[in-house]
Amino acid sequence: MNNPKVAPADGKLGVLLVGLGAVSTTFIAGTMMIRKGNGLAGGSITQLAKIRVGRGKDKQYKKVGEIVSMPDLKDLVFGAWDIFPDTAYESAIHAEVLKPKHIEPVKDELQAIKPMKAVFDHEYVSKLNGSNVKPQATRWEYVQELRKDIQNFKKENGVDRIVVVWAASTEKFIAYNPKTHDNLADLEAAMKADDRENISPSMCYAYAALAEDAPFVMGAPNLCVDIPAFWEMAEKNKLPIAGKDFKTGQTLMKTVLAPMLRTRQLGLMGWFSTNILGNRDGEVLDAPENFHTKEVSKLGVINTILRKEDNADLYGDIFHKVRINYYPPRNDNKEGWDNLDIFGWMGKDYGMQIKVDFLCRDSILAAPLVLDLALNIDLAHRAGLVGTQRWLSFFLKSPMHDYTKGEEPVHDLFQQYIMYKNEIRTLGGYEADEEID
Ligand SMILES: NC(=O)c1ccc[n+]([C@@H]2O[C@H](COP(=O)([O-])OP(=O)(O)OC[C@H]3O[C@@H](n4cnc5c(N)ncnc54)[C@H](O)[C@@H]3O)[C@@H](O)[C@H]2O)c1
Repeated sequence: MNNPKVAPADGKLGVLLVGLGAVSTTFIAGTMMIRKGNGLAGGSITQLAKIRVGRGKDKQYKKVGEIVSMPDLKDLVFGAWDIFPDTAYESAIHAEVLKPKHIEPVKDELQAIKPMKAVFDHEYVSKLNGSNVKPQATRWEYVQELRKDIQNFKKENGVDRIVVVWAASTEKFIAYNPKTHDNLADLEAAMKADDRENISPSMCYAYAALAEDAPFVMGAPNLCVDIPAFWEMAEKNKLPIAGKDFKTGQTLMKTVLAPMLRTRQLGLMGWFSTNILGNRDGEVLDAPENFHTKEVSKLGVINTILRKEDNADLYGDIFHKVRINYYPPRNDNKEGWDNLDIFGWMGKDYGMQIKVDFLCRDSILAAPLVLDLALNIDLAHRAGLVGTQRWLSFFLKSPMHDYTKGEEPVHDLFQQYIMYKNEIRTLGGYEADEEID
């Protein structure tokens, strides 16, 4: 079924990544392998999931690309910015996520991806020092340079549309400041005044993207497009935005286990989560000011799902702690432990424990999310959807929502999937529904 309101995914789609590290190179090399027919797109909803459309005798199960027009992976063109000059090939080797057999067959294509000079402020990521950075300039000048980068990339690669996805390091925590973040005029004034306290590098990338007709996705927990100033800009320029923080390992488990507790009316005394992680992301998060950004993102999940105000007996007093420990020997192969202290019949005198030990691979879990977010935000753009795309919450740890209107984030993975499927159904010209599949 074709919905005439959705422009077809004709021509080339440029995927511009901020950061060309472990996640980005695993995504790029993996996508190149998949489009050669040499790799499995495991974890990707757009490539593998079948969604029911229609009901009763009319029901059919179709892939997303059969319901709505989606780009062929062969039509994706990749580009990136990074503070290190390594090509995508060199960076993929350095990241040690993919094995040579998943890198070497696409070596030439990866070598051709040379990162553009980054907008970087050492104050925001204290653990990194790189040479591939733009010369010191004001925030507003940085925006103009990034806009030129996007324009050049578009011209040089003959792409028809662009999406920009942040997969760069987590920036230090900055708080929402109503004086600079509340509306677009104040945000622009702060950029022009080079207010480095309140305007992060990631905000410069987001502004440049939205000024160049490119949807923007925030894959880290940075304060960025989750502020009213950017909502205003997205509305004004008629662009979709999404964020924030890819939902990969431990939080994915949380958003599955917490709904189970709530559905079964089991109580929770405490939830302790800890990780060991040895990649560059882990090193950056070893700085307390950067970890705090991640901590806030990870902590929000449980309370929203369990709703202590609705059930204080079960969820009124939860001790929730999250730790990330930088441990180089494990590199990208993160190990995440969760301990849940739960209770039920007759209360806390009969406590029980659930232990999860997830030996995951961070970038293997994140790469399909980058692909899905890039393709879906492009779909949103072609469909004329504007502002925060809540139906993309499924892919995100800290889903954006309009808190100024009292909206709450939806964290429950299964509720998020219903939102996702219904948007795809609607965009495909089918009816949204909540039938049991
Ligand atoms: N892998 C996961 O499971 C996961 C989950 C959620 C979020 N994330 C986030 O995704 C991001 C990328 O993770 P990763 O494992 O690829 O990290 P990484 O350290 O391997 O890569 C990040 C890259 O960003 C670059 N960079 C830093 N600041 C930059 C800037 N201002 N402009 C351009 N480039 C910049 C760094 O040089 C580095 O190469 C991190 O913020 C991480 O927290 C990852």
